[in-house]
Amino acid sequence: MNGIQVALGTASFGTAISQEDSHRVLDKYASLGGRVIDTANNYAFWYPNGKGGDSEAVIGNWLERKDRSMFTIMTKIGSQPIDVKEKIRKLEGLSPEAVYSAVDKSLVRLKTDYIDILLAHHDDRHTPLLDTWRAFSALVSAGKVRQVGISNYSPQRVAELTRVVREYSLAPIGFVQLQYSVINPVDGADLEEKLVRLDPEMRETLARLLPEAKIFAYAPLLRGKIFETTAKDKWPSKYESIQNRSKVSEIQLEARELGVSPSAYVLKQIADQGVWPITATGNVEHLEGNLKLFSDRGV
Ligand SMILES: NC(=O)c1ccc[n+]([C@@H]2O[C@H](COP(=O)([O-])OP(=O)(O)OC[C@H]3O[C@@H](n4cnc5c(N)ncnc54)[C@H](OP(=O)(O)O)[C@@H]3O)[C@@H](O)[C@H]2O)c1
Repeated sequence: MNGIQVALGTASFGTAISQEDSHRVLDKYASLGGRVIDTANNYAFWYPNGKGGDSEAVIGNWLERKDRSMFTIMTKIGSQPIDVKEKIRKLEGLSPEAVYSAVDKSLVRLKTDYIDILLAHHDDRHTPLLDTWRAFSALVSAGKVRQVGISNYSPQRVAELTRVVREYSLAPIGFVQLQYSVINPVDGADLEEKLVRLDPEMRETLARLLPEAKIFAYAPLLRGKIFETTAKDKWPSKYESIQNRSKVSEIQLEARELGVSPSAYVLKQIADQGVWPITATGNVEHLEGNLKLFSDRGV
């Protein structure tokens, strides 16, 4: 992959962030050497004006005016509700039929004839891993998708899928997307079940079973609610601890010494661990500041 080692998150593009502002952020990201754009076919059905596919459509409208080959588009499927208006939403899942249909729709919205990286957004326990991965592999063979990966699979399911991929010589799992930042939730915190973290067990599993896979960290700035706050500000309770407070003070101090924002410092720390942070913002100044410590070294 070319460009700086930070992907651009676009979950709010086309919903909370207008198409015009989204295109400004995309232009700025590209001008700063950014080349990897992260989206999903369900971004962002949870906003009142969202139905899923909104982010992909905004990216497609931008991409058609660019040199397509310069950018890596990473999208995810499997977690779009079949009917967004339903109160209890049933997701499309990862059956072969759902996978083929989701990819064809994503290609139309993205206005492209291939997806660089296709990820299974969340584990689908109702579909055998072999069925999903045969479909993913068939899409690679057909040229609709270049490479494949997973997001939010537990270490146990990563191990099962790795076995399936090897046994049936299917398309390799080249990418893994997980939640990760430089501070950890406190023990016993109520975490969102569907969002799987890059914790020590996961790191060990990936190093052992998928040493070649690139790891992407989502929510690296903890949704903007911690690193840019002052000592008096309230934090989300799942991160509130003396240890985290003192780590964040250290980060803020070191960032100040370097003349950058704490957000910029955190993103660089994550990248220095060999992980690709996915940063998201609707604010061009934030983006410029966040990428201050990255330069296009052709990573
Ligand atoms: N695979 C998955 O299941 C999954 C789950 C969640 C997210 N993702 C992907 O990861 C991306 C990033 O996730 P995220 O949005 O949670 O990332 P994040 O980087 O942790 O948080 C983004 C938030 O931080 C704020 N922010 C950014 N820079 C800032 C700065 N310098 N000062 C103050 N606030 C700042 C932004 O607000 P402003 O707009 O005001 O800058 C935005 O609200 C998503 O867009 C999506 O592509 C994937």
